[in-house]
Amino acid sequence: MKNIVVLVSGGGTNLQRIFDTIDSGEIPNAKVKLVVADRPCFGLQRAENENVKNILIPRGKNFCELLEKEIPENTDLIVLAGFLSIITKDFCEKFRGKIINIHPALLPKFGGKGMWGIHVHNAVIESGEKKSGATVHFVTPGVDEGEIILQGEIEVDANDTAESLANKIHIVEYDIFPKAIAKVLSK
Ligand code: GAR
Repeated sequence: MKNIVVLVSGGGTNLQRIFDTIDSGEIPNAKVKLVVADRPCFGLQRAENENVKNILIPRGKNFCELLEKEIPENTDLIVLAGFLSIITKDFCEKFRGKIINIHPALLPKFGGKGMWGIHVHNAVIESGEKKSGATVHFVTPGVDEGEIILQGEIEVDANDTAESLANKIHIVEYDIFPKAIAKVLSK
């Protein structure tokens, strides 16, 4: 059995997808042992609904130090599922190769500090890009710079708004995230 810790900051629809695809077997032989949020959010309630241990560690300078103390010893993978704090270099190094993130754009474009959620989609629309999508990648000290595991694309239509792009990209995320998690856990 592979043990997963999930970090969230928001509504947690990707977290829900992780629960659902573990149940369906698309992510085989895995269990979410812990969900950690860096702010009050519905993701914590989703964990509660699944009877999964969940804790709030308020975002701030010592977040990663406190987080490290909570990570169960036998954790195989730490999954950032709509998580908005920056993970420290020390934490990245301690769990090297064991942290992955989902980002709502086609990295290496539209990544880095400040590029999250709606800001990403606004930047894509302003730049006139014809394509966007989602990327699952390993987390390294350089923000959004780690090795890419999987990407999925969508077309940006002339009448798309940041909100419509977010919706289209969420659907891609629900497809590639479980596949990427299963792929990493199978290694
Ligand atoms: C997702 O679109 C994810 O790619 C994005 O936050 C959303 C969370 O949705 N992550 C980032 O922007 C990280 N830089 P959810 O809470 O419904 O899963």
